Amino acid sequence: PPCYASFHPDSPACKIEVPERLTVSHTALQEEGLAERCVSVPIRQATDAEILLAHSEEYLEAVKKTPYMSLDELRTFTQQYGDVYFHPNIYHCAKLAIGAALQLVDSVMTGKVRNGMALVRPPGHHSQRSAANGFCVFNNVAIAAHYAKKQYGIKRVLIVDWDVHHGQGVQFAFEDDPSVLYFSWHRYEHQGFWPNLRESDYDSVGKEKGAGFNINVPWNKVGMENSDYLSVFFHVLLPIAYEFSPDLVFVCAGFDSAIGDPEGHMCATPDIFAHLTHLLKSLAGGKLCAVLEGGYNLTSLAQSVCQTVQTLLGDPAPQTSELNGPCESALESIQCVRSAHKPYWACLKHTASIILSYFITRDNFFEGSAEEEALMSLCSVIALFEKMKKQEVSCISGFCVSEKGTANYLEKETYSYDMILLVRLPRFYGGDVCYFLPYFNAQHLLCTVYYYSQCVCFVCVPPQGCSDVAGLMQAVLCLLLPLAYEYDPGLVLLVRGPGSGVGKAAWAQITSLLQGLAQGHTLALIQVRGTEGVRAPL
Ligand SMILES: *[C@@H]1O[C@H](CO)[C@@H](O)[C@H](O)[C@H]1NC(C)=O
Ligand SMILES: [Zn+2]
Repeated sequence: PPCYASFHPDSPACKIEVPERLTVSHTALQEEGLAERCVSVPIRQATDAEILLAHSEEYLEAVKKTPYMSLDELRTFTQQYGDVYFHPNIYHCAKLAIGAALQLVDSVMTGKVRNGMALVRPPGHHSQRSAANGFCVFNNVAIAAHYAKKQYGIKRVLIVDWDVHHGQGVQFAFEDDPSVLYFSWHRYEHQGFWPNLRESDYDSVGKEKGAGFNINVPWNKVGMENSDYLSVFFHVLLPIAYEFSPDLVFVCAGFDSAIGDPEGHMCATPDIFAHLTHLLKSLAGGKLCAVLEGGYNLTSLAQSVCQTVQTLLGDPAPQTSELNGPCESALESIQCVRSAHKPYWACLKHTASIILSYFITRDNFFEGSAEEEALMSLCSVIALFEKMKKQEVSCISGFCVSEKGTANYLEKETYSYDMILLVRLPRFYGGDVCYFLPYFNAQHLLCTVYYYSQCVCFVCVPPQGCSDVAGLMQAVLCLLLPLAYEYDPGLVLLVRGPGSGVGKAAWAQITSLLQGLAQGHTLALIQVRGTEGVRAPL
């Protein structure tokens, strides 16, 4: 319906939270040929009982009356809440928005689809138990999380809120509940940005039994870029999420965190949402339900929705544009969140300084492609390696770097290792990787790859030294992935050694995470016993 103009002609709800948000998104999905590749799930109205999973009876009864209110009554009703405006039709729409999210949960949990996105209005994440707030009437995702737990006996739910606003409604709903891990990053500016809550800061970590299960990453500056978003995923969200090990993932998918948004004023490009989606897909066996929240620049909203859906469909994420590492303000927020959550998560206990040493040497990494520069880069990686070793993090001891053609380190220890290689294929080589295929021998493979490419970085994981999968995942998330994204390889080679100490599940997750790189160009080589003696010439 058109805006209820005679009611609140200048309200932001009327100006930016407009029906076109859904129509442009849907049209874009059709034009990109994505809509036809999706399974369309019919929507329904949520029942009272479902709404009551996250709201009080008094509040529900009050909202129920809004379709019958006069303009004056609506105005009075609205004034008790913050930044929300009731249209006579909004109760109906809000019930459909919840119903859409619940239908999505059903479809994912019954295996009808692997994952999905619900394009809904009004949004939900600001809505509270007994209060509408910030364009939101009912809390779609909070209700859906309760519903999934109740209906399917799910033990652990992860909610990732990448909207640019703090979903305080979701935080309040699960603050003392350790079965729901809520993550939100949000424009904060030291409490200067809406909703201006003290509780949105990094030190609101949850309460009582839920302590440690609420993660707030405040953005204290606008203009955050792709690197800042990825860094928060690598150094905060993903390590904790892997330790939490959810059975189902929700995304409060607001795209006001994308470039050009009049609310967010951030600079992340729509393609970053492909990567964020990809990085979440290896959790919970891929069971992911994204539910639209904000996003008010119709152009970047539609593009971001397409990137998200395309990745959910399984297409490779596009190559990321220039990643320069996080800005100082983002880094400060990351450090604050990590130290606030240190008491609650094992993954944050040992390695607070990994991230620091990484960023100290960041500028020296992989600059240019000339051989000299490549070697200099290798030196800085080796220097980093030495720093890592001093932190005595067990699995980092498997991080090694070879000099061109020598592979000294490998000579001694290659065969029992699993390796992950990031290869930047030089232009003259034209990206032809077939040459490497005959060498089912890790050592020669590495030498060959290194010989033909300017610079190779690889991580080896000793099967014994790193028996705990948690430590391995931590190294992959906090070290390998940040390096890899910045390096921007054209190909990812994975080598799995014989007698590998890395279990199938972890190997699958690592493989999946790495497929976000190099537009999904991944080559996995599985070494089997009996090939150790092969000595193929370079
Ligand atoms: C929307 O964002 C784009 C950048 O993606 C920008 O060029 C455009 O001006 C923005 N539109 C509005 C109406 O702000
Ligand atoms: Zn928002």
